[in-house]
Amino acid sequence: MPDDMTRFRDLAAACDTTVFGHPIEGPGQILRRLADLADELDVPWDQYGARGPVALLEEELEALFGKPAAFFPSGVMAQQSALRVWCDREGTSRVAMPDLSHLLVHEQDGPRRLHGFQVEHLTTGAEVATASALHGVVGRLGAVLVELPLRDAGCLLPTWQELTDLSAAARHRGVPLHFDGARVWESQPFWGTSLAETAALSDSMYVSFYKGLRGIAGAAVVGPEDFLAEARVWRSRMGGTLYRSTPEALAALLGLRDLLPRMAECLAWARALAAELPAHGITVNPVEPHTPTFLLHAAGTEDAVNERVLGVMERTRLRLTGPWRASPEPGRVVTEVAVSTPALEHEPQRVAQLLAEIAVG
Ligand SMILES: Cc1ncc(COP(=O)(O)O)c(C=O)c1O
Repeated sequence: MPDDMTRFRDLAAACDTTVFGHPIEGPGQILRRLADLADELDVPWDQYGARGPVALLEEELEALFGKPAAFFPSGVMAQQSALRVWCDREGTSRVAMPDLSHLLVHEQDGPRRLHGFQVEHLTTGAEVATASALHGVVGRLGAVLVELPLRDAGCLLPTWQELTDLSAAARHRGVPLHFDGARVWESQPFWGTSLAETAALSDSMYVSFYKGLRGIAGAAVVGPEDFLAEARVWRSRMGGTLYRSTPEALAALLGLRDLLPRMAECLAWARALAAELPAHGITVNPVEPHTPTFLLHAAGTEDAVNERVLGVMERTRLRLTGPWRASPEPGRVVTEVAVSTPALEHEPQRVAQLLAEIAVG
């Protein structure tokens, strides 16, 4: 749908304000804010992943998670490095992960082609990972990966009890447990626990800085120091120990300061909107969102629904959803929405009415 994509992008850029996602800002505005933070912190440049804002960020992550952290330029590299370290230590390249894992769906087969991982499916489709799912994967494993939340299933989370039981099962079996925590910041209000309590259930965890935290790019792996030392070697081998990552690290620090404390408000707003939508013919998945990011399903065809979204955005100058795509269910369409601080400025009831125009015409 390249034409629609261009129309969406052009119209979104022309909107005055947004409901979903982060505020509409150009690179100049964002870089000026980062420059102000650099002055305020009075830090030098980082160099090859050490010193400056990268070191500050790693210290802050250690304070939040109760474990050391290593900065990575991307989550793809962070997770492949983490799994590679565990598998080399365990002497097997067999890893278990959901069939919907980012590594299997969005990484161009890199985990298998670059590292030779042999993947077993821990779960299938919209199923949360549990101890019994792990019991179902027999034989030796180098690592188990759990995506928290499972993004392609509507950002689905296990309950705290399910996660605790899974962690205990992995420990009992002696297999390292890795969390794909790209959206762990957005997951905490669902459990009502601390980031350190989540990290304590894992052997390693990857976190992202440019989703809920609105950064530029970048990731980190959290885990024991000896494990991180090996992961950093893989980072270098894959060309990821960059000469400078100062803007990315500054943006991550800003996200931790300004957006992390607001995740619970965003989840409450997401749930208030979700409660309004079924009456307007829109199905929400999960019915009560687990995180501020979730899926909307409606009847119709891609073309007709997208035309109506563009019409509403043109009329209101309000950026609403991105493009909707055909759902696996015939005659229905789906889109993902992410609630961040801009949504808090709008009444969920009014947003539900605008979405209703899109869904039923
Ligand atoms: C669940 C999940 N894991 C991993 C990644 C990879 O992160 P990156 O884009 O930083 O490589 C993403 C990115 O969207 C993601 O959503």
